[in-house]
Amino acid sequence: MAVKSPALLVSPIEEEVLRGLSARPRTLPPKLFYDAAGSHLFDQITETPEYYPTRTERAILKKYAGEIVRQAGPNITLVELGAGSASKTQVLIEALLRRQLRADFYPVDVSSSALQGALKTLNGHFPRLRVSPIVADYTHRIPDLNSLPGRKLVLFIGSTIGNFEPEEAMAFLKSVHRSLQSGDALLIGFDLIKDAGVLHAAYNDAQGVTAAFNKNMLVRINRELGGSFDVDSFEHVALWNRRKSRIEMHLESLYQQTVWVQDLGRGFHFEKGERIHTENSYKFNTVSIARLLRRSGFKLETRWIDAQGWFCEALARV
Ligand code: AVI
Repeated sequence: MAVKSPALLVSPIEEEVLRGLSARPRTLPPKLFYDAAGSHLFDQITETPEYYPTRTERAILKKYAGEIVRQAGPNITLVELGAGSASKTQVLIEALLRRQLRADFYPVDVSSSALQGALKTLNGHFPRLRVSPIVADYTHRIPDLNSLPGRKLVLFIGSTIGNFEPEEAMAFLKSVHRSLQSGDALLIGFDLIKDAGVLHAAYNDAQGVTAAFNKNMLVRINRELGGSFDVDSFEHVALWNRRKSRIEMHLESLYQQTVWVQDLGRGFHFEKGERIHTENSYKFNTVSIARLLRRSGFKLETRWIDAQGWFCEALARV
């Protein structure tokens, strides 16, 4: 079997899987979660009783939508990074259209099918909203927002900022800041540090949906790269790392085993108990939120936090 040299590797997932599985500790990039099956599993996670972030954020947006859009200012153009189906955005759009006759909405996402779905739903619900989807990987390059009309309110909700490493989060927010003008605003969701039991349960749901989501990476490598992972011989591990303020997800090999990946032309040997680190989900407090926004160039204006103190929506100004 010929081993492909790195120069011949075409698909970016091949490169990343090769690099991650060869590294020590072994890693796989979280973006591998989100093929069609993984996106569906993520939607199911948000409906488990243990996974509080989505419903808590939704409740904050519902309760404070009027205040949020008032605080953002007059003549708003909405931009949403990682919009997906834009389901949580609808309460903000409703509130915005109570304040202005018309509005523009630019949902940005890598998935054109998710954006087509959003376009259809929003056009049906909001005749006074003009929706212009932008298909882009905003984690690599923020689309040019300067040319858009009006005062921009950029939404980055869903606590996705927690899936970036701290230095990546800062670089990302700096590039959002650079793409905006004075007076524009950012609304960003942060999951807050809380009781370790609540955090642990959210990433170890009783129905095993998060476990299936985590293992879907292996299913995907099997299907897309000709891998031979025996998915049941890896266990889902999610733990709260208090020192680093993050939930870590891993896949732990239950046995000593060698897994062959055809398209990489090589095998990977795992000791019993050896882990592949698949995701970090950082949790914040009011101090770390203020620091991150300040260091990225934003001025934190207002925070909305639920009564339990579990989730924070922050409005920051350029
Ligand atoms: C998308 N992101 C905010 C989720 C999180 O909670 O970090 C991804 C996730 N991973 C496991 N469960 C949910």
